[in-house]
Amino acid sequence: MKYTAALLAAASVVYAQQQAGEWQQCGGIDWTGATTCVSGTVCTEYNDYYSQCVPGAASPPSSLPRLGGVNTAGYDFSVATDGSFNGTGVSPPAAQYTHFTGEGANLFRIPFAWQLMTPTLGGPINETWFSNFYDKTVQAALASSPNSYVIVDLHNYARWNGEIIAQGGPTNDQFASIWTQLAQKYGTNERIIFGIMNEPHDIPDVATWVDSVQYVVNAVRGAGSQNFLLLPGSSWASAQAFPTEAGPLLVKVTDPLGGTSKLIFDVHKYLDSDNSGTHPDCTTDNVDVLTTLVSFLQSNGNRQAILSETGGGNTASCESLLGNELAFVKSSFPTLAGFSVWAAGAFDTTYVLTVTPFANGTDQPLWTTAIQPNLP
Ligand SMILES: *[C@@H]1O[C@H](CO)[C@@H](O)[C@H](O)[C@H]1NC(C)=O
Ligand SMILES: *[C@@H]1O[C@H](CO)[C@@H](O)[C@H](O)[C@H]1NC(C)=O
Ligand SMILES: *[C@@H]1O[C@H](CO)[C@@H](O)[C@H](O)[C@H]1NC(C)=O
Repeated sequence: MKYTAALLAAASVVYAQQQAGEWQQCGGIDWTGATTCVSGTVCTEYNDYYSQCVPGAASPPSSLPRLGGVNTAGYDFSVATDGSFNGTGVSPPAAQYTHFTGEGANLFRIPFAWQLMTPTLGGPINETWFSNFYDKTVQAALASSPNSYVIVDLHNYARWNGEIIAQGGPTNDQFASIWTQLAQKYGTNERIIFGIMNEPHDIPDVATWVDSVQYVVNAVRGAGSQNFLLLPGSSWASAQAFPTEAGPLLVKVTDPLGGTSKLIFDVHKYLDSDNSGTHPDCTTDNVDVLTTLVSFLQSNGNRQAILSETGGGNTASCESLLGNELAFVKSSFPTLAGFSVWAAGAFDTTYVLTVTPFANGTDQPLWTTAIQPNLP
């Protein structure tokens, strides 16, 4: 018996050195066969017991280009910070995408209310809304330039109707459900970045939140997603809190695709007196905060972040300070992969942080002076 077991073990060692073919098993608990895949495929984990070589996944190692652009808001209008929502959403004007790409923008963040995408928690995507509204907007943004990237942004503050994911509210499965459905729609388009969740805040247990993030990462990969993923921390995705609060835990999140180059951190930072993004005047350029963030990312595996919300009023102070900030972001590539300013889209031209172009096609002064010069 011992002899037979030894033979079997020896045989499996030899077999493990071969590569698994397309659609063959390449891992899982008790799996003793090949764990690497033939070229052109990638070993993709579906669950603890089964991984399979999925074709097309092993495209050349991909990395993000330098990104710069704008949030086009509207489908998030009237999502409250407690994750409740009774609205209808408003479509961002499609013409803005060619307007901004014509000036060098290549990143559009498109926020949406969880309740608009899946009217029932954990239920199916509303296909009518998706095809007539959200996806139409996403396709307009993608079509505006062959180089444009879109962040699909679930804008719900880690909450559904007042309750926090996995901490009294939705289960991790319900959270993962919307993303596995979006992975089935957008999972092979590398120009679509999944913004897993906008601005988690007042999270009782940050480690539990990071477990929810890992849960979604595993789920979208299991559903075939190869997208870059934006992982949010705590305290409203604060760039300032990141190195000491969620960052040390989020850097441990793993990617079933292997490596961490597709796990990008999502950070926000405003420039007004209370960092809320509600005042027209700016009081800081955040270069100190971003310098600390960059050194944290570099000393924790050379990771990357995107400043997916920042902005200011159309005032002299913001034109100067936002310009400094975005120049710093640009010079910190690739650690800081880029930025998207808050906000254009369905906001009118009088909103305090508006960068919505005027009806005559002219840009807001903040756009022209502080943002446009720092686009890629
Ligand atoms: C939506 O309606 C519910 C129930 O009436 C209410 O508690 C909640 O505050 C409302 N949310 C918003 C964003 O208006
Ligand atoms: C689905 O979306 C359509 C189009 O916006 C809307 O009319 C309908 O009420 C939505 N269905 C649900 C269940 O919310
Ligand atoms: C466009 O409209 C804005 C806002 O009304 C105005 O300030 C600006 O002068 C106009 N520009 C041109 C070129 O007409």
